[in-house]
Amino acid sequence: MSFDLRTFRDTLGLFVTGVTVITTRDEAGAPVGITANSFNSVSLDPPLILWSVGMNALSLAAFAQARAFAVHILRDDQAALSQRFARSGTDKFANLKIESGLHDVPLLPECAARLECLPYAQHPAGDHILFIAEVQRLASDPDALPLVYHGGRYAELADKPVSAF
Ligand SMILES: Cc1cc2nc3c(=O)[nH]c(=O)nc-3n(C[C@H](O)[C@H](O)[C@H](O)COP(=O)(O)O)c2cc1C
Repeated sequence: MSFDLRTFRDTLGLFVTGVTVITTRDEAGAPVGITANSFNSVSLDPPLILWSVGMNALSLAAFAQARAFAVHILRDDQAALSQRFARSGTDKFANLKIESGLHDVPLLPECAARLECLPYAQHPAGDHILFIAEVQRLASDPDALPLVYHGGRYAELADKPVSAF
């Protein structure tokens, strides 16, 4: 390898992403959630998305055996919610209002978009597990602006048109 881990992370950080919180329930029925920016689109027909979970994540087992999960695309005023679901070993759902989705998946009512999914495939990939899922239900707020993640920091979209080329 001709680069170190830090350089690899910094380089990937140049790729701008949105931020999601992905939720499910564990075997005991407790709500589980994790902040993830590895979310991406895969296929339109069937409608498939992907994301990956680190092998060290406490919620990995719950997602590996989940009957369903929900991807919440966060709004630009939801950085605190992202931080909440990025703190391992805490009660991430404390005082949060949740609704019930497909297979009783906990849904966060406020977000830019919500995708309720069924598992489609799982692949170990290095120190992560890749999850591919089929979207069953969609909800979105057409007026919401997304939370942005870039270079390890949160950002907002600048509403600045790129010059035509
Ligand atoms: C913006 C952001 C994006 C993240 N994306 C991912 C991701 O795609 N996959 C992942 O496993 N962890 C990701 N993390 C880290 C997890 O959210 C964090 O490790 C979390 O504490 C894991 O929770 P758990 O141990 O309760 O499962 C991200 C964190 C932040 C702040």
